[in-house]
Formats: sequence, C-alpha cells, structure tokens
Amino acid sequence: MLEPLKRLEEEALAELHQVRGEAAVQALIHKYLGRKGRLTHFLREMGKLFPEERPVVGQLANQVKSNLEKATQDFLEKERQRQKAERLLTEEVDISLPGRPFPRGGKHLITQVTEEIVSIFDHLGFEVSEGPEAELDYYNFEALNFPKDHPARDMQDTFYISPNIVLRTHTSPIQVRMMEKRKPPLRVIAPGKAYRHDSDPTHSPMFHQVEGFIVDHQVTFADLKGTLHYFVQQFFGPDVQMRFRPSFFPFTEPSAEVDIQCVICQGAGCPVCKKSGWLEILGSGMIDPEVFHFVNYDPEVYSGFAFGLGVERIAMLQVGLNDIRVFYENNLQFLQQF
Ligand code: DAH
Repeated sequence: MLEPLKRLEEEALAELHQVRGEAAVQALIHKYLGRKGRLTHFLREMGKLFPEERPVVGQLANQVKSNLEKATQDFLEKERQRQKAERLLTEEVDISLPGRPFPRGGKHLITQVTEEIVSIFDHLGFEVSEGPEAELDYYNFEALNFPKDHPARDMQDTFYISPNIVLRTHTSPIQVRMMEKRKPPLRVIAPGKAYRHDSDPTHSPMFHQVEGFIVDHQVTFADLKGTLHYFVQQFFGPDVQMRFRPSFFPFTEPSAEVDIQCVICQGAGCPVCKKSGWLEILGSGMIDPEVFHFVNYDPEVYSGFAFGLGVERIAMLQVGLNDIRVFYENNLQFLQQF
C-alpha cells in the first residue's frame, strides 16, 4: 500500500511541474484532492486494510495530502505573483490623457468694482469701515434726520424685520455709527449691501453701495467737489465731464447729485442716458448739522461732506449692461467674462 501512495504523490508533483495557469492547477487539485479525487479515494479504501497496517499507511497518506496541498497552494501563489508582475510590465500609463480640470474661482464683477472704488479713496487716505445689514431704525433713519412719519422714508421701500429693525436701505447709517464711536478728523469709505423692496431691470432688492464721508475743521463744498472730481477722473478717465445737480437728502444740506457725461454716447444722447447725454452716478452733500447733533459734534466747530455711490449702476455703465438681474443669476458664462 505504501508504494502506490508514493507513486501517486510523485505523479501528482510531476504533473504540477508541467501545468501552466491557475485553471490547470485547480483542475489538478480537483483530480487528486477533490471529493472524488485519487487521494481521497485512496483514503476511503483504507478501511479494507489490516488493522496493523492502518497507522503506517494512514500517516503516509496524511503526509502526502498535506504535501500536495502545500505544493499546489505555493504554485497558485507564485502564479498570482507572476501575473501581477506581467501586468505591471505591460500596462502603460497614458500620459496623453488630459488632466482633470480644476477651475479657478474669480471675483464677481460687483466685488471688483467695489474694490476699485474703495482703492481710489484708500489712496486719498480714507479708512475702510463696515456696518450691520440688519440695522436699527435709529441709524438707518432717525439719526440721519428722517423723522418718524417723514415722507422721505417712503422713498426707501423698506424691509422691516421688526418695528425697530430694518434691512438697511442704504450704507449711510455707517456715517452715524463711525461718528458715534470716534471724534473728528474722520475720513471713511464704507462699502456694503443695501436692501429695498424694488425689483425691475434696473433695481434689485439687494444691491451694493459705497458710502464715503469726511468730518474735520473747515471742510467745504469745494473739498467735496475736488474729491469727487478726482474720483471720477480716476475711475472713468481724465476726459469724462461731470456736473453737480441740486438735490435733496435729509442728512445733507446742501445736497447734490453727480452726473457724468454718458459713457455710451459721449454726451450725444442715446437710450441709456435717455437722450440727456448725462448719467447719474451718486448722491452727495454737506453733512446736515442735525446729524451732528445726534452724535454730539458741534456744527460750529466741525463740518463735513458725504456721498453714496450705487455699485451696480456703475458696473452696468462700465460694461454696458441694461439689466441688473444678470449679476445675481450665477450664470458662469456671463460672470467669467470679467
Ligand atoms: N444714502 C443715499 C441713498 O441711498 C445716497 C446718498 C446721498 C449718500 C447723499 C450720501 C449722501 O452720503 O451724502 O439714496
């Protein structure tokens, strides 16, 4: 019984040395070690042996079984390693494949224009300040000399959060907040969002303004004109004409609106300037002594000027747009142009 068992082992190992590929080894395992395999069959037949023969044959049979199991498993492992090495050698990296795009963000046109405006005043020595968008009635109206029930409040299409808190309708409340905190001299430029219940091609319920003001001894209307003239030349170019038009704001006296020569038709008259040749770009004036009273500045000692610019309006003029809503539609094809 021992001889056939040894021969079986030799045959199996010889076959193993000749096969190639995983499937062939699996077939070999099946042939010898499977349920109906040759060694399995042999083990089953052991019952027919004489009792004294059994331990010796049984031991060898188990030995052969584990030898074959180990030999086939080793073979399989080597085969897997070989396949892996082959794959690594033949697989090529396609260096012509384009990389995954990683788009770069950019600043929104409104942010760019705001920064450009602020930087012009920064060069004139203005400091940058900001204020809250949900604002107390006191700062948005009262201390800017809009008394309760005054008709000037009607023009502001206010969003009320509560009877005392509004979404600020302009950036002018920052004037009061700064004056309350500090003593003159003050030179402040204050960009930010403002809100009004108004929506059409040239009005958005949320929009941007840049507020600016100066308070010091002997600030005059000439300083206001000189400063705004400098701004217009820096922003729109040295040859652009500008004019001051009398106007009214509760917090300035006298008040003026500033127009520039139409940048589309150079003053000849076109649909954008409604044939007038002029475009309004900002409101301004000398700070009303009433406002100084609210912040305990003595109007006999100090004077100041203020102005407020609409950023969207200026951006629209700069790039020739006639619909404000495109700024907020998040259409990248539009926004990426700037
Ligand atoms: N706050 C005004 C508005 O939103 C704009 C304005 C006008 C601001 C005159 C000023 C100013 O500082 O002096 O309509």
